[in-house]
Amino acid sequence: MFGRIVPASAFLAVTTVFVGGLLVPATNGAVSNSTNTLSPFLYTPLPLTAIRPRGWLSSQLHLSAAGLAGHEHDFYRYVSDSTWLGGSTEYSELHESAPYWFNYIVPLAYVLDDARLKAQAKSFLDYVLDHQAEDGWIGPETTRETRGIWARALVLFGMTQYAEADPSETERIVDSMHKFTVLAHDMLASNFTGLIQQSGDNFDPWRFGLARTHELVMSLQWLYENYPRGQEQVIWETMELMFEGGRVGERDWTTFFVEGVFPKVGTPAIKDTRFTHGVNLAQALRYPAVLYRMTKEDGLLTQTRNAVNWTYTYHGSSSGTIIADEHLGGLSPQRGSELCMSVETMFSLSYLYRFQGDNAFADGVERAAFNAFPAAISPDWWSHQYVTQTNQPWSRNLTAKPFYNVVSYGNTFGLEPNFLCLLIKPKVKYNYLVWWINLFKQPCCTVNHPQGYPKFLATSFLKAGSNGLIHALLSPSEVTTTLAHGNKVTVSVDTIYPFGDTLVYTITARSSFDFYIRIPSWTVLALSSISVDGKKAGALTPDENSLQKVAVKSGRTTVKVKLGMEVNVVTRGSGGVAVYRGPLLYALDLEYSSESFQPLNWTDTQPLPGEETLPETRDHILETPSEWRIAIDPTNLTVNDNSAGLKMADLPSPIFARGAAPVSITAAACAVAWNVTLDSPALPPLSPACVGERVNVTLSPYGTAKVHMAELPIVGF
Ligand SMILES: *[C@@H]1O[C@H](CO)[C@@H](O)[C@H](O)[C@H]1NC(C)=O
Ligand SMILES: *[C@@H]1O[C@H](CO)[C@@H](O)[C@H](O)[C@H]1NC(C)=O
Ligand SMILES: *[C@@H]1O[C@H](CO)[C@@H](O)[C@H](O)[C@H]1NC(C)=O
Ligand SMILES: *[C@@H]1O[C@H](CO)[C@@H](O)[C@H](O)[C@H]1NC(C)=O
Ligand SMILES: *[C@@H]1O[C@H](CO)[C@@H](O)[C@H](O)[C@H]1NC(C)=O
Ligand SMILES: *[C@@H]1O[C@H](CO)[C@@H](O)[C@H](O)[C@H]1NC(C)=O
Ligand SMILES: *[C@@H]1O[C@H](CO)[C@@H](O)[C@H](O)[C@H]1NC(C)=O
Ligand SMILES: *[C@@H]1O[C@H](CO)[C@@H](O)[C@H](O)[C@H]1NC(C)=O
Repeated sequence: MFGRIVPASAFLAVTTVFVGGLLVPATNGAVSNSTNTLSPFLYTPLPLTAIRPRGWLSSQLHLSAAGLAGHEHDFYRYVSDSTWLGGSTEYSELHESAPYWFNYIVPLAYVLDDARLKAQAKSFLDYVLDHQAEDGWIGPETTRETRGIWARALVLFGMTQYAEADPSETERIVDSMHKFTVLAHDMLASNFTGLIQQSGDNFDPWRFGLARTHELVMSLQWLYENYPRGQEQVIWETMELMFEGGRVGERDWTTFFVEGVFPKVGTPAIKDTRFTHGVNLAQALRYPAVLYRMTKEDGLLTQTRNAVNWTYTYHGSSSGTIIADEHLGGLSPQRGSELCMSVETMFSLSYLYRFQGDNAFADGVERAAFNAFPAAISPDWWSHQYVTQTNQPWSRNLTAKPFYNVVSYGNTFGLEPNFLCLLIKPKVKYNYLVWWINLFKQPCCTVNHPQGYPKFLATSFLKAGSNGLIHALLSPSEVTTTLAHGNKVTVSVDTIYPFGDTLVYTITARSSFDFYIRIPSWTVLALSSISVDGKKAGALTPDENSLQKVAVKSGRTTVKVKLGMEVNVVTRGSGGVAVYRGPLLYALDLEYSSESFQPLNWTDTQPLPGEETLPETRDHILETPSEWRIAIDPTNLTVNDNSAGLKMADLPSPIFARGAAPVSITAAACAVAWNVTLDSPALPPLSPACVGERVNVTLSPYGTAKVHMAELPIVGF
């Protein structure tokens, strides 16, 4: 459905301990641990069940549950007939599709407290735990050649979230993880079996798992901290072996986030593609921090900041994600951004915010969550793009390919709109000319994108110290948790943010605590205010960590915060300008017509048989009759803010649909000459002359504009 607006309505049973790597019997029942410790997070997340969505975020999550995400378990062959559930359908040797699905269905089910989705998650958990092999292997594979560790990292992400959401499952999950860890340790210690392919192996021919060694480590760190059961040594060594395998396999990201090595231009200029796959990079933004937790080498924190800064500076989209159509693409608004990258970027930056507390990381999560992510998803949550272009006046099978290694169909909205493409090219390797076959188009975004909002919500509130609570990622939501000394607190956020600038908090607490609101770095303090319990509003006074502290007393407290937003025009690497207000990017909002048909099979581009789809799963192409060759006068922008006085329930649902947002910007503009290259707008013309009259155009939030122009040339009048 496009364009239609519907009005709203600890386990401590240790008998032996490791000291300095030696097995030492525990004496007198004393509990000990190894000498290795993990560097703690600055802020701690809450269990999935502590936070509930409200307002527009609740509507979005419900649409996702009622749409594709909540139905893949029933019909989508890579989930319903996955080898993980006894079936026979996988899209690649990685066997990762049902694991990706599990990683999103757990948080989606639990943040919504949705019985139907919880039953889906439970059936997968039961099947996987009941079928764990004698030797500890988790998953369907039975031979050394097919047993790759990578997809286990995704299953463990799902299991650790499950263990926190439903304590009645914790013990069997932790049992299973321990059993698997012992096996993984032995495999890795034996020449990195299951991580680095050796002769005859076929579990990771494109080295995706090898490039993602830190992902399993994240869950092992969770096990180490929460349920070590005296197995610290084997867990620790397994974590070290994962990183070591990445080094041996030449996928050590600390060698890439280095000045002079990190590429400042995109493909095809990039020659060494070991580290330039966009989804790998989005995930690897967390690699140095995960490693730092173990080694505490200060350089890794600086490296994290550089990694994020360079990724955005040289390959960042104005909508908050990475530009890479498989491999990094530079700053061109013609190049594509994979939907997977926006959710992995959000997850990485929220992890880094929790760990390091840099305000820029949380700003980055919000920018991707409110712009890049929803732009690529249909309003009804049944279809999505594989790649989004920043300047994209139509969404169709392009007659040419502006992308490096994504097919021309990749920017349509559909079920699995990215096709197998055989790219055979010669490559010089070890002084031999070999033929290099790229064959890794996969419907990964179909099974990965729905983690975006559930994980965003789940990390929107964080604990700080023993008696503090932070609202870190701003959105309408409600949290109930217990702070120090059994202090039960509830915080309910009433807001239409980011479509409005005001957040109203209703807080109840048994005793006093420190409440903090993260103040985004774009906030104009002079236009901002805070008022507690209806008292006269005062200025915001954020501390050096950009947190506004409110000392909350026992009982009921209300806090009203207004975040000053101003229009901010940014000149982009393309030469065009991007227009922001607060966290939202504004784009020329084009009318469009849509046409839909039976989804195409990604491997042979033929329509899928009806029994493989649902009536709602359609592929869509969007065409615009509007003039898109528009230049704006950035000195003459007028904000049309109709958000004042709007209640949460007044926002239409779906909110990310054309015309749904209560705020837009009017720009003085004119039509200019602007060429089409590769069936897409060329780079914005520099200093163009008007070819038409001076007109007013409307710029709307990018996420609501499924076809859009967001990097525009400049004219002066
Ligand atoms: C290990 O034990 C020491 C001393 O009891 C304690 O300070 C440390 O926090 C423990 N570490 C872990 C990871 O449990
Ligand atoms: C270990 O694996 C590497 C490939 O990563 C291979 O070249 C080497 O022969 C293997 N060594 C043994 C002893 O199997
Ligand atoms: C990167 O860091 C430089 C220097 O601190 C700063 O000026 C710039 O704004 C940062 N860019 C991004 C995209 O974070
Ligand atoms: C898309 O267009 C290309 C030519 O540009 C064509 O080769 C391909 O078959 C088309 N794909 C579909 C699914 O129509
Ligand atoms: C998709 O196409 C491939 C290649 O022709 C075929 O093997 C497969 O069965 C098709 N899938 C479905 C569900 O029809
Ligand atoms: C802004 O542009 C509009 C026409 O688009 C014009 O009517 C108005 O006078 C301009 N304002 C300024 C301050 O230039
Ligand atoms: C459009 O392309 C034509 C032919 O290549 C070229 O002559 C012209 O300068 C281009 N116009 C713009 C605005 O870039
Ligand atoms: C353009 O918009 C501006 C600001 O809203 C308004 O003042 C002006 O009258 C409009 N001009 C035209 C031609 O519609």
